[in-house]
This record gives sequence, C-alpha cells and structure tokens, in this order.
Amino acid sequence: MKTIIEPFRIKVVEPIRMTTRRQREQILRDAGFNLFLIRAEDVLIDLLTDSGTGAMSSLQWAGIMRGDESYAGAKSWYVFRDKIREITGFAHILPTHQGRASERILFELVGGPGKVVPNNSHFDTTRANIEHTGARAIDLVIDEGKQPASRHPFKGNMDLERLENLIRETGPQNIPLVMLTVTNNSGGGQPVSLENIRAVRAVCRNYGLPLFLDACRFAENAYFIKLREPGQQDRSVREIVRDMFDLVDGATISAKKDGLVNIGGLLLLRDDHLAQKADELLILTEGFVTYGGLAGRDLEAMAQGFEEVVHEDYLQYRVRSTAYLGERLLDAGVQIVEPPGGHAIYIDAKHFCPHIPPAQFPGQALVCALYRHAGIRAVEIGSVMFGQDGNPPPMELVRLAIPRRVYTQSHIDYVIEAIGEVFANRGTLRGLRIVSEPPALRHFTARFEEL
Ligand code: F0G
Repeated sequence: MKTIIEPFRIKVVEPIRMTTRRQREQILRDAGFNLFLIRAEDVLIDLLTDSGTGAMSSLQWAGIMRGDESYAGAKSWYVFRDKIREITGFAHILPTHQGRASERILFELVGGPGKVVPNNSHFDTTRANIEHTGARAIDLVIDEGKQPASRHPFKGNMDLERLENLIRETGPQNIPLVMLTVTNNSGGGQPVSLENIRAVRAVCRNYGLPLFLDACRFAENAYFIKLREPGQQDRSVREIVRDMFDLVDGATISAKKDGLVNIGGLLLLRDDHLAQKADELLILTEGFVTYGGLAGRDLEAMAQGFEEVVHEDYLQYRVRSTAYLGERLLDAGVQIVEPPGGHAIYIDAKHFCPHIPPAQFPGQALVCALYRHAGIRAVEIGSVMFGQDGNPPPMELVRLAIPRRVYTQSHIDYVIEAIGEVFANRGTLRGLRIVSEPPALRHFTARFEEL
C-alpha cells in the first residue's frame, strides 16, 4: 500500500477552537506580536513545540493508574529502570523532571570556568546550563548542516577535523566531555549517522574524553539511520538504538520528546563515581533516586513510552508524515531546511520574505502571519531567539514542530494550504521592531510593533 496511515485509533478527543481573523488581530496586538504570550486556547493548530505535547496511548494511561507512589523503592521505579536498561543498556539511570534538569546536574559536576564542551549544535537549555557554570559551549556541526538546501543525509554530523583542532587548541584536560545531539534540533532536526558517532568516539578515545548523547529524539535518529545509512536497512530500530547508546559514556534525555510523555527526563551514566555524585545532586534538588522529580505514575508512562517509540510502524508514520508536510511546502515553492527532519519542518524565512532584512525579524513576521491568517502557532528560530548579542545567526528559520500522535493528515493539509496562501501574498508581510525585551532569552517575553 502507498498510503501510510496513523497507526492508532482515537479514543479521547480534545476540541480545538477556531477564532475569527478580527479576534486574532486583537490577540496579536495584545500579546505584542509574541506568540509565547497568547493563550493556547486561542490557537487552532499548535506547532510551537513537539516537547511534552504528544498524546499518550491507552497503555500509558493504564500505567498512570498503576503508578506506585511509594517514596522509596516503588514498583513503578523498577518497571521504569528495567525498561530503560533493556533499551539503552545503561547501568546508572537517574529520573529527572525534564531534560534541562539532567543537564543542570551533569554540568554542575563537570562544567566550570575554563572548561569547553563541544557538540554538533547545543540546544539552548544545554548551552545555557554549560554557560551558567562559566564553561563555554561550542557548535561543530558539518558545513552542510548550515545550508538549508543541502540534502546531505546526515546533516547533524559533527565535523571531525574541527573537533580535533578544538581539542588540541583547548587541551583535552579542559574538555570534560564531548556531546552529540540526536537528532540535531537547533540544526533542523537532522540526524547523526552511526558512522559519525563511531568516528567521534574514536577521536574521544584518543584523547581520553567521554562522549555523551543529548538523546531527546534517539528513536527518530535511529529510524533515519535505518532508512539512510548503508548496511542498516535490515536491522531493527531497537538494535540501532542499542548501538547508539553502546558507543557513549552517558546521555541526557528529555522524555517529553521520544519518551512519548508530557513530563519526564533521564540522566544515564556509566561511571560509578560520577553517578554517585549525580545521585547526591538529584536528591538535593529533584527527589530521591527512585523517583527523581516525578510521580510513580509518570515513571510508568515513561516506561511504556520508551517501549512504544521504537515500534517501527509508529516511526514510519512519524517520519513520513513530517516529510509529507515538508514535501508539499517545497512543491508550493516554500524553501525549507532539506531534507525534512524528524520532529519538525523549518521554513527558510529569508527566502520566504526577502524584502524583510534580518534586523526586522523575517521569521517573526512569518510567525505572526501564520497566526493571523489561519490560527497556526509556530516559533521563530532566528534573530529574535539568537540575535540578542548583536550577531545575526546564519539562518532565519520558522519551526513547525509536530506533536506526536496529535494531529491527523487533514490538520496537516490545512497547514499546507494556509502556508501556501500566506506565501502567495508574502509581499504584504511586514517586519517588526522590538519595543521591550528582557536581558536574556528575549524570545519568550519580548514585545514587538509592526513596521
Ligand atoms: N535538548 C534538546 C535537543 C531539546 O530539544 C530540548 C528541548 C532539551 C534538550 C531540553 O529538554 O525541555 O525537557 O528541559 N526542546 C524543546 C523544543 C523545548 O521545543 O525543542 P526539556
């Protein structure tokens, strides 16, 4: 069969509400043209993030009822621990309330002034947690990873030569670990190949450095490996996932992505000494080692989520339906980051509105236009998010992130139609000016005015 269907039936529905264009105009103005500042109920299709916005399965909801809320040694902890061990092979498994809590614990232990942490591309919370300790966060993705139209199959790969140069210049003693983000969210949701993970590990071995994954979207990454990497087609996603984890010394994970839950995270470690110190910090700020920052029921939902996310009919639907959105936009003439990533489609806003210079935030103009025209919420990843230091980033992107198992194909067809219409009238889009902004992370609270 050519048609790839959603591999589930819908048991519970949540109504969404259409607003009028006039209402949306008012809502935009009241929010200072910042979509983080509007009520979610005023959004029709919410593509702000794929994080914590997925739908749980009937078995996950059953797990919620089974949850054992004992403070120490709860049954749910063992269910969770055993499932994560089965999938990742890690000995030390620390539950946290979300990804950044794992990052905070890890970098409090290994960061500090003078330290440097390389990554293909750091996600913003990872960078912020590293910099918070006084260390520096460096991005070393291959050049193809920065070119929207390049169709390299693994645009998330790390540039090995630049990694070696950085290690030599900085001195391995100042590099506590090397990280790879799978898939590379900041670079368009692009995967990293097994070959690249192996090669980065070989460099790390040479210099005695540990390698860590930011493994939020590990299953989508493994599925791309299966589809695209020579020799991987006949292997199961489970085997590939295991290979990815076997190659590294630790991982931070936000389970709000491929954990298929609304809240939860993990820190995975091999080193006993580091794990003991991490346990101490976990107890200090998250919770006891058998629940982290979570309830027993959350651990049950996560255990089941990690099981379901490596099912290949799910991954086929997931990756194919994201690609469908990307391909239809390309057909309509809209330049996106190619090839489509796993969790999101990124529109090239410089190409979409060539008449709006980066200083007038073309991405934000497009985000506002999508909301005004069709009630769709997307997010700017460009000069608003990353240009606060005065250096415009290399790309002006708008991310359409797809929540897992939430929207059907007709929702996506609506999004495609709406973006096509906005594109046809793109000459009418207007740039913006910032009227107020906080000292850091301005994209969450800045207010704008249309020019
Ligand atoms: N690492 C990556 C690659 C991420 O995409 C995120 C979150 C985190 C770490 C932090 O995890 O939110 O659970 O603390 N990304 C979300 C997004 C917020 O919209 O891309 P968290």
